This record gives sequence, structure tokens and C-alpha cells, in this order.
Amino acid sequence: MEDRNAELIEKILNLKHRRNAVILAHNYQLGEVQDIANFVGDSLELSQKAAKTEAEIIVFCGVHFMAETASILCPDKTVLLPDINAGCPMANMVIAGKLKRKKLEFPSATVVCYINSSAEVKAESDVCCTSANAVKVIESLDGKEILFVPDQYLGHYISTKTNKKMILWPGFCPTHVRIQPQDITRLKLEYPQAKVVVHPECRPEVIVLADEVLSTGGMCRFAHQIEAEEIIVGTEIGIIHRLGRENPSKRFIPASEQAVCPNMKLINLEKILWSLEEMSPEVKVPEEIRVRAKAAVDRMLEIGRADERSKQIGYPNYRCR
Ligand code: 13P
Ligand code: SF4
Repeated sequence: MEDRNAELIEKILNLKHRRNAVILAHNYQLGEVQDIANFVGDSLELSQKAAKTEAEIIVFCGVHFMAETASILCPDKTVLLPDINAGCPMANMVIAGKLKRKKLEFPSATVVCYINSSAEVKAESDVCCTSANAVKVIESLDGKEILFVPDQYLGHYISTKTNKKMILWPGFCPTHVRIQPQDITRLKLEYPQAKVVVHPECRPEVIVLADEVLSTGGMCRFAHQIEAEEIIVGTEIGIIHRLGRENPSKRFIPASEQAVCPNMKLINLEKILWSLEEMSPEVKVPEEIRVRAKAAVDRMLEIGRADERSKQIGYPNYRCR
């Protein structure tokens, strides 16, 4: 198996070089995929990398909306998604037609879409956000009323951190809702010294039990900086690979072994090689949608650039207000 992987890795690296490609991987990808990527990160970091890369081809190891975001930002590059079926069920919980109708109900609301949404939905939105910058993006807006799609739980978390009136879409992440408050309570008894970090896609009953609420990139920085030796991690379990590799002396305890995103596991070394050989499947956003979607993504990136504090490791949890 190791020999087989070594052969695959060599072929991928050679072909990547010949094609002038960069491999970007999300923190939830399989360990074998994270280990060959040029960069591993959260949705915000990956979109920033995509926007800046000089490579001609981006092999996006993540889910469809992430590859679409790269295509929105880099229309002249070829964006490959090694398994075209790698979607995000939460992103699919809002479609542009329904959002357009909802906007008619709330004509004065500013429409904010979580980056976990299709390009068509981004095109209908005023600004985009990720889990790393959601509070900052929303606080920066003039409007008092926000129509937020599609994640009701991230939206709810933001509502506890800002004084905006949040109109929430009933979407959710099927992976993060598997994490139960009882999981955290049990693990806190088992590991009394451990810090608890959770993703803002978790339900409020889980969030309230955490020490920190962070994007996956924020969790990686937190794990590196904090002195605690044990950390209970409330997000998709793929991140444990990176946390363990970067912090070999610390112990990372998944809040729930059930928190697996099957879509994130669709990409493997074979599919990456095949994708680079065939230059397929390509993700390309039609120009008319791309231009409108880009305005929402650019506005988010601009807010991040304008705010020096974007370098902070995360935002404090409810009880730290
Ligand atoms: P991050 O941007 O925090 O990596 O989250 C992406 C995601 O899909 C979480 O489920
Ligand atoms: Fe989508 Fe949830 Fe998977 Fe993230 S973990 S990609 S939000 S389904």
C-alpha cells in the first residue's frame, strides 16, 4: 500500500510540475491528500490562496462550492475538482430562485451568504462570509437587518455576537449536527484539563459548552498557540490529521467520531492523478454569474484586508463577551 502510494505521489508531483499546477486542500481532506497539497487551510485561506496563485491550474481538494469560489476569483485558470460529486449538502439547501423570492419579502435586508453556497446564490447576495470572518463581515455592514443563508446555526451564533437583526435560512450542516452536547459533557468529565474548541456550524447547545468557537484554520492556530495539552475538537474529524501532525506532543480528542463529511472523503490520490492526467472534471462558473458572485466575494476579501484584526486567532465564545 505504501509502495503504491509512493508511486502515485511521485506521478502526481511530476505531473503537477509539468502542468504548472497547485494543489489546494481543505482541512477535512483525507490525510494522504493533505500530505501532498501545496497548501492546506480553511475556506477563507483557500480562497485567498487561489486568488493569489501564479499556477495555471488549481487542483481543488475540497467540495464543489470551494472549487467554484476559486473559479470565481480566477477565471483565467483551470480549476479541477478531482471528484465532481463532492458537494456540500448544506450549500444545496438554498437555491437562487428561492433566495430571490425571500429577498422580495425583506427588501431592506442586506443579503449575506456563507461561502458554503453556490455561485448562483453568491450572485444574489450583497456580501459573502466564511466561518473565520462572519462576525467581522456582518459588523462592518451599515444595514441593521441581515438575510443570512444558508446556515441557521452560524447565523444564530453571529446573532449572539452582533446587534443585527438576523433573518435565518433553515439550512444546516448534516455533519456538524451529529455532534451532541452530551458528547462534549462526557469528554469534559473524561479529560478535565482539556480545552474545547468547536466550529460555529455546531448547534447552539454545543457552542455554549465550548471555550472557543473557531473556523478550521482558527482551530489550527489555536492548537499551536495554546499551552493546553489536550483539546476536544468539535468539527469534522479530518482535521485531527493536521492537528496531530503539527502538534505531535498534544492530544486531540474528536468530540464525535460520527462527525464525518462523506463528500470531503471522496477525493483520494488516484482521483487527483486521474484529474491531472485528464484535466477534468473542470469547475467553471458562467461569466454572467461569475461577475455578480465575484462582487460578493471581493467585498468579503476587502473587509478582511481593511481590518488589521483579521489576524487574530478567532472570536471569543458566548460567555467571554
Ligand atoms: P472552514 O471554513 O472553517 O474550514 O469551514 C468549512 C466547512 O465546510 C465547515 O464544515
Ligand atoms: Fe458542507 Fe458540512 Fe461537509 Fe462542511 S462538513 S462541506 S458544511 S456538509
